[in-house]
Amino acid sequence: MNLFSPLTLRQLTLKNRIVVSPMQQYSAKNGIPGNWHLVHLGGRAVGGAGLIMTECTAVSPEGLATLSDVGIWNDEQKDAWKNIVDFVHEQDAKIGMQLWHSGGKGSLKHPNEKMKPLPKEEGGWTVKSSSPTEMNGVIPEELTVDEIQELKVKFVEASHRAVEAGFDTIELHAGHGYLFHQFYSAVINKRNDEYGGSLQNRIRFLVETVGEVRRSIPDGMPLLVRISAVDYLETPDAWTLDDSIILAKILRENGVDLITASGGGFANVSKDRVFPNYQVPFSSTIRQQTGIATGAVGMITEAVQANDIIVNDEADLIFIAREHLRDPYFALHSAKELELEVEIPWQYKRAF
Ligand SMILES: Cc1cc2nc3c(=O)[nH]c(=O)nc-3n(C[C@H](O)[C@H](O)[C@H](O)COP(=O)(O)O)c2cc1C
Repeated sequence: MNLFSPLTLRQLTLKNRIVVSPMQQYSAKNGIPGNWHLVHLGGRAVGGAGLIMTECTAVSPEGLATLSDVGIWNDEQKDAWKNIVDFVHEQDAKIGMQLWHSGGKGSLKHPNEKMKPLPKEEGGWTVKSSSPTEMNGVIPEELTVDEIQELKVKFVEASHRAVEAGFDTIELHAGHGYLFHQFYSAVINKRNDEYGGSLQNRIRFLVETVGEVRRSIPDGMPLLVRISAVDYLETPDAWTLDDSIILAKILRENGVDLITASGGGFANVSKDRVFPNYQVPFSSTIRQQTGIATGAVGMITEAVQANDIIVNDEADLIFIAREHLRDPYFALHSAKELELEVEIPWQYKRAF
């Protein structure tokens, strides 16, 4: 077993363990992915990664963070995604869509304008969350129980469109301080109803959505969830790795096939906590304690480093984000470094 061993989840087989981690490009108009996304995602498929993940893709306009994020709440968006999916498939790679709602972290300006709150007259909207807890200087409105039910429907509708566009897998983005995380972490969730209070209540929105999405996508399609395994906060209400283990067991029982163990989202993580493999212990602990397949992510930048995580049984997939921006051919370069045979795109064979 190594970085280039295939992995089968349900009826999906990935040719290797290297994943292009979701990365927002802030380059869309009306939620529609364009040429940039085709080249960005397609280029990394040419580069040999087994699974290409889209950036976080909003299930509704209110689920965007900025007006430059991508979405999949209408057919125009779906058709644009299909073009990208087809190209990735032509490269013998698989592609997954990360579905997402920003909750209280929405209605922001573009990063080039420092992601300041977007005023209503420039297209901004009222952001809503589990509770009116301040996030980045904004106090969201509290979602009603009816609105929570409507949100689950949005995720189901978006999943249908992703399946129709030809995606091989779906990942729910339940980390990084976005809407699902705003429910399961007591740092934000201060509700007193069935969606707040106990851990069981706080994870309810995610678990119910997982159940409904699972039932609405083909049985052979794996369902992935990205969580923040910890909040990286010391307060008594912070989400912990022990909480993540409980959550992972329940997600597994509800048909989730793989959990990517990321972290944080409500506060800047201090620099001394970020170092190579810094989140691998989350992945390996969740994997050992629950038996679910896991993805490791965070400061994994080298072939030998990534290979060791697989060889040591610490994760099933390696999600590589920033190194893929520096090197779209990370997978092909890794195979060469590890002296493993892989298929090179025929157009490029003369160079490898
Ligand atoms: C430009 C950029 C955009 C990102 N966008 C997303 C995203 O859309 N969804 C997500 O789950 N994580 C996102 N992330 C986080 C990465 O997927 C990854 O978890 C993080 O960068 C750590 O991995 P790395 O050290 O390999 O970069 C983004 C990271 C970067 C650098």
